[in-house]
Amino acid sequence: MPKAYVFTRFGGPETEALADVDRPSPGPGQLLVAVRAAGVNPVDWKQRTGYARAGEVARELPAVFGNEVAGVVAELGEDVTGFAVGDEVFGNPVAGGYAEYALLPVTVTAHKPATLSFTDAATLPVAAATAYDGVAQLALPEGATLVVTGAGGGVGAAVLQIARARGLRVVGVASDGKKDFVESLGAVHVPSGPDLAARVRAAAPDGVDAVYDLVGGEVLAEAATLLPEADRTKLITAGAYADVAKRFGGARVARARNAAVLEAVADLVVRGDLTPYVTRTFPLDRAGEALRTVEDGHARGKTVIVVGPTAETGADA
Ligand SMILES: NC(=O)c1ccc[n+]([C@@H]2O[C@H](COP(=O)([O-])OP(=O)(O)OC[C@H]3O[C@@H](n4cnc5c(N)ncnc54)[C@H](OP(=O)(O)O)[C@@H]3O)[C@@H](O)[C@H]2O)c1
Repeated sequence: MPKAYVFTRFGGPETEALADVDRPSPGPGQLLVAVRAAGVNPVDWKQRTGYARAGEVARELPAVFGNEVAGVVAELGEDVTGFAVGDEVFGNPVAGGYAEYALLPVTVTAHKPATLSFTDAATLPVAAATAYDGVAQLALPEGATLVVTGAGGGVGAAVLQIARARGLRVVGVASDGKKDFVESLGAVHVPSGPDLAARVRAAAPDGVDAVYDLVGGEVLAEAATLLPEADRTKLITAGAYADVAKRFGGARVARARNAAVLEAVADLVVRGDLTPYVTRTFPLDRAGEALRTVEDGHARGKTVIVVGPTAETGADA
């Protein structure tokens, strides 16, 4: 039977297991994909705790971890057009991706460009697409100054690059250990921690036009003060719930969750405007270790789980 990394009840890491599961069968509009790589995201462990996005219910148990994958189409559901068995694709699985097989709705699946590795493609559907959606939502003119908190993580590294490619000035707030990384992505680094707003003001004396927060909590509260209280329409967050964002006058990032955005981010990679920084890879039987690198809250770039005989495997980068 195919293997998958699952959680059997809501709770902590003790609920996780590598399990034998049935090979899923694609429904109408779905693809069965032999997974080659699965991106690891904070939402994966949050779902294990019973978290559900607004308007969604918590995952049905036992649940397979994972919300972004790349792989090869193994079977087509009814009414699928535009895809064939053997196509290399990436997208948002319907119910888990840390697995040998995953189901992808065609609405959130795109063809993987041949020049893109499975490992890199697996970082695009959640992290890079969230970065892309947020930068598009802010709709800033060239030369505007964008502040990004959590700048060295999975989404942050993509926001910095996408913003720079649009001609924005970027201030990246991150821990001192990520200074070189943040600067290598074309941003001015500002150390995180208390009083970050004062440090950002000093680093951006001409003012701040927008804030993309990826942390929430105190960091969001302080970063919000960089924008005038009377108009915080250019404050967005992926790191806090919508009601919290609203309390500060901002909004949660509006996710498009469609194939067109996946194609757009892949195109950015092909053009050289976006490099997926995969800093750690793990095989499926070490998926728990992969998840811990993100659950500890201080990931650098992306962690990816590699699956199958010919996917890139390997040492932690
Ligand atoms: N709405 C959506 O569709 C969506 C999609 C993707 C992600 N998200 C959310 O967006 C957030 C970021 O995601 P991600 O994938 O980028 O996470 P990640 O890879 O874990 O990166 C998070 C970054 O936040 C920084 N950080 C953590 N605690 C901090 C603190 N107290 N003060 C300052 N910085 C802190 C860490 O950097 P340092 O090591 O430098 O502290 C880390 O690099 C998560 O909450 C995630 O759930 C939402």
